[in-house]
Amino acid sequence: MCGIVAAVGREGNVVPSVIQGLKTLEYRGYDSAGVAIVSDGAIQVRRRTGKIAVLEEDLGQNGLPESSIALAHTRWATHGAPEDRNAHPHRDHLEKVVVVHNGIIENYAELRAELQEAGHEFSSDTDTEVLANLVASLLEENSGDLHAAIRAALPRVHGAYALVAASASDSDSLVIARHDSPLVVGIGDGVTCAASDMPALLGLTREFLVLENGETAILTPDSCQIYDPNNQTIERAVQHCDWTPEQAEKGGYPHFMLKEIEEQPDVLARTAFDRLHDAEGDVEFESEFGLDDQALCVFSRLRFMAMGTSFHSAMLGKLFLEEFAQLPGDVVNASEFLYSPKLKEGDALTVIISQSGETADSLRAMREVQSRGGKVLGICNVRGSTLDREADHVVLTHCGPEVGVASTKAFFGQLAALYLLALRVGRARGVLSQEQGFELLSDLRHLRPKLDALFSEAAAQAVQKAADILAPVNSCLFLGRGFNHPIAMEGALKLKEISYIHAEGYPAGEMKHGPIALIDDSFPVVAIATPGRTYEKMVSNIEEVRARSGAVVAVAAEGDEKVSGLADATLFVPEVPEHLSPLVNVIPLQQLSYEVAKRLGKDVDQPRNLAKSVTVE
Ligand code: F6R
Repeated sequence: MCGIVAAVGREGNVVPSVIQGLKTLEYRGYDSAGVAIVSDGAIQVRRRTGKIAVLEEDLGQNGLPESSIALAHTRWATHGAPEDRNAHPHRDHLEKVVVVHNGIIENYAELRAELQEAGHEFSSDTDTEVLANLVASLLEENSGDLHAAIRAALPRVHGAYALVAASASDSDSLVIARHDSPLVVGIGDGVTCAASDMPALLGLTREFLVLENGETAILTPDSCQIYDPNNQTIERAVQHCDWTPEQAEKGGYPHFMLKEIEEQPDVLARTAFDRLHDAEGDVEFESEFGLDDQALCVFSRLRFMAMGTSFHSAMLGKLFLEEFAQLPGDVVNASEFLYSPKLKEGDALTVIISQSGETADSLRAMREVQSRGGKVLGICNVRGSTLDREADHVVLTHCGPEVGVASTKAFFGQLAALYLLALRVGRARGVLSQEQGFELLSDLRHLRPKLDALFSEAAAQAVQKAADILAPVNSCLFLGRGFNHPIAMEGALKLKEISYIHAEGYPAGEMKHGPIALIDDSFPVVAIATPGRTYEKMVSNIEEVRARSGAVVAVAAEGDEKVSGLADATLFVPEVPEHLSPLVNVIPLQQLSYEVAKRLGKDVDQPRNLAKSVTVE
């Protein structure tokens, strides 16, 4: 999705900083990029279709003057094709105002018609150019005050937006506003900046404050004055972000995805270990969890909602809960929930899982639950995100910034958090004894050293052999049962996202009810057959695939000759208790999709058409 970076400094040239910030947002997915400055009473814009490198090349040839104010943007096309003229920033037709904007202005067509009637001319197909013209049309009646003009414009605008604007007549301030699209403000030394995502500003500052829905703000080099929806000034405490700029960089790895796959053993420690109370056989979350034993005993069920990879975590959230707490769990796709009948929430707790904490469907589902009187527990990775701020209860996953568009370590962190949640609920409700709790905690503690085997030379060779099978095909199937059904779905999602090979994840029992028709010698199957209650059934499924000449890539426990004897390639994993197998089995599947995509020459970290943070429904 689109990315915003803007800065206004006391002195010096902020253009290199905003371009650098834009690069850290590349992972969000985009098709064009641009930057604007204000200099000598005029706005200058450079914008180009393609990667930020293309914009940089353009800036090299048609340089911008140095400027202590700049607004930059990466665009992911919604209104109008990815062309230079549709790229941001956008100015009004008289070039008095410049705007960068994330989100969608739903009533842009009628506003555009009205403005055209009044003599405004348009050179793009975008809703953002309409916004720039609307603000400019209100400038005069607001005595040239950009903040006042924006405040007058916003009630006329329907939809979601995060916007940053500047006026040609003022090179010392930026005006920002947000409604349903994220925007953070960075407070640096002699520079104030704004961006759609914190990592974009880590090169300038680690002190942040978040703009809430309906608020606007005026940024100057030394201040950020926030206004509430009634135009009253608000004081907001600055928060320190402990993410380092290095965490948001590749650190010698060829791709963020590979770096993030390899960070997973550390993620386990960061998400889980500080929360384990071995002596009590229990888990202690931070104060923002806010649910004590008594509160956890009130709920008669938990509902897990999310999108994409986080939805696969939601599926496992339910399985962990039912296993450890013997409490029923529902799994609902957040985008589907919005259109379901408005039943009473009753005594359910809804768990919304989102790495970014900004996924539009998940946020809308959260608000819908809350409007029906229900309570929401958010599980997310980004402190200060909308989910973190608006959920009634929160568990942060502490994975550090995830930059690769295909989620890996954030998924792993979610699974660890959901395991802890189920254990906590089980202990609170008296379903798990102290001793059982202790055993589940020690299973988790013992997992970390076992993960090392997944990053060995032997494991890498096995991934290569499996990639030999998958890289040439057009389509394949991933099968798993029980705890590994969501992992089969996640494995298939990873492969299709970054290699563009069609892949579907199924509960293996479904195979004979349809997908088996596809199997022949050009249609391989990835089968997760690690020890547990469904092991024998998985072995039978593998036999059935082989009987139809389908190649088999198996995920099997180290030393399992039965499965490896049947498979064409085996990804061996350390043997762990069945309930922890998802955290182990997902890793070779991530490595496999990475290897296949790399061989096919695909853009691993920024797959086509995908965005890291899907902030529109
Ligand atoms: C897949 C992927 C997406 C996200 C989905 C939800 O690799 O990254 O499917 O999982 O867009 O994102 P969050 O977790 O930020 O709500």
